[in-house]
Amino acid sequence: MSAQTLDQLVSLCKRRGFIFPGSEIYGGLQGTYDYGPLGVELKNNLKAAWWRANVYERDDIEGLDASILMNPLVWNYSGHEETFVDELVDCLVCKGRFRADRLGDARCLQEPTKQPGQCQGKLTPPRPFNLMFKTQVGPVADPASFAYLRPETAQGMFVNFANVLNATGRKLPFGLAQIGKAFRNEITPRNFIFRVREFEQMEIEYFVQPGEEDLWHERWLAERLAWWRKMGLKSDNLQVYTVPKAELAHYSKATYDLMYRFPMGFEELEGIASRSDYDLGSHSRDQDQLGLTVSVKPNKQSTARLTYFDPTLKQHIVPFVIEPSAGVDRGVLALLTEAYAEEQVKAVSAERLQAISTALGAFLKSVSNNAKLSPAHREEILTQGEQIKQDLANSMPQIQALLELPGAKSIELAKKLRGQAEPALDEAFRTVLRLKPALAPIKVAILPLKRNHPEIVALAKQIRKDLQAEGTLRTVYDDTGAIGKLYRRQDEIGTPFCLTVDFDTLGEGQIASFKGTVTVRDRDTMKQERVLITELQAYLKAQIATG
Ligand code: GAP
Repeated sequence: MSAQTLDQLVSLCKRRGFIFPGSEIYGGLQGTYDYGPLGVELKNNLKAAWWRANVYERDDIEGLDASILMNPLVWNYSGHEETFVDELVDCLVCKGRFRADRLGDARCLQEPTKQPGQCQGKLTPPRPFNLMFKTQVGPVADPASFAYLRPETAQGMFVNFANVLNATGRKLPFGLAQIGKAFRNEITPRNFIFRVREFEQMEIEYFVQPGEEDLWHERWLAERLAWWRKMGLKSDNLQVYTVPKAELAHYSKATYDLMYRFPMGFEELEGIASRSDYDLGSHSRDQDQLGLTVSVKPNKQSTARLTYFDPTLKQHIVPFVIEPSAGVDRGVLALLTEAYAEEQVKAVSAERLQAISTALGAFLKSVSNNAKLSPAHREEILTQGEQIKQDLANSMPQIQALLELPGAKSIELAKKLRGQAEPALDEAFRTVLRLKPALAPIKVAILPLKRNHPEIVALAKQIRKDLQAEGTLRTVYDDTGAIGKLYRRQDEIGTPFCLTVDFDTLGEGQIASFKGTVTVRDRDTMKQERVLITELQAYLKAQIATG
């Protein structure tokens, strides 16, 4: 079972250090998020897997890392200045600004139960709003010094087409791959890291012979679907949407959107567009001599002919482009959604359930009597609390979220409820991130059975050092709790392997043959096996490669 709500992921990400709201201590900045210690590892692992699959494991793709700041002419000839717009409507009463095509998802700022237009407000007619952020290059703020923050990485690859061709002598078909930041002044950023104003893209521009574009479009669709499945996304949670002609971006001849079943429903994870000869044609000089198949803006400012000399035809042609373009942040959100599970691993005794039920009842009573709580907060706690109470045996993990609601901590009886619920939750339930081992932020946790036993501790730390020295096995050492609690902590962040050093490891246990071995606990099956310390590295690497 994957994550059912975005709140489950937002809460885990904040609590365990995957993702934080941007600039939080100053009240935040809408549409921005910061990746914490675990989030940056997950994101890097996803990007590295993409780069490996597309650049290292293929013979037909080169990498590129172009500037975020580009000459504004790039965005003029790419068509973005004219057409990279969303329709915006203003509400003259609540002063909200909304995307005209998303009014159904938006809420009136004054009457949040209604959507804009259904309230007392009056909406302006839609007007175009360009999504590109402007900045200034150099110390003089005049009209000549402005530049845009790129809204896609793609253009860096088109404007370098001739450079790469000259440097590498590549023959068609070949592609360029780039990972980098992109910026869009989204009117309504929403759904956590799904729609943000600063994000990362993993894009390929794949140049093909004119006439072969449909073949390559299908190939790339299959390729990209297979890759996301390899990253752990289930087929049932992936769909292909053929974008109707009327919805195509200005550059596209045909586009497939790969849709993933996020907690808010199926939404775009990656677009695979067939961009014809539009981009190279738009940025090229001598356009009238190129025999372009699409109409482009006349360009007298480019200094380069972006063509390819076809050795068979013995003439210059303008290649067509297939573009698989994935969002890194949406990828991270999809991985988290897919991997997230809450599981009961043990039954809770009837006495314990009774004690928790009593503590919950007392807590809710005290909430309803508390005059200091705002009515909205009181209502929220009581509604959620009553729901939990009605089906306590199955909704115990939600007690933690209940106690995190605004105002809950200020209730004296919250401590008592926590005191009753937490030990049972730790013992009987777990949240687990079933990430592919290769993507997991931390690969191995070393948990000494006794933290005050010098030999156990020294050996555990030595094992950590040796594994870390290998270079790819990110390993942590944790002795800050009982072993059960430490397992739960690692399960929650997706660590695939927990190693325990115990008395058997030292040869002081009951089974002599266990000397020199550690227990390796598998995150998903929770099964343990003993592995020789000398064979640990090879064992773990094999498990990660096939996991
Ligand atoms: N070069 C083509 C291009 O940029 P796009 O469909 O606009 O196409 C590609 O963007 C991908 O970038 C999307 O499929 C999505 O994963 C990601 N993306 C776009 N806008 C985003 C935003 N505001 N926040 C997060 N990711 C975004």
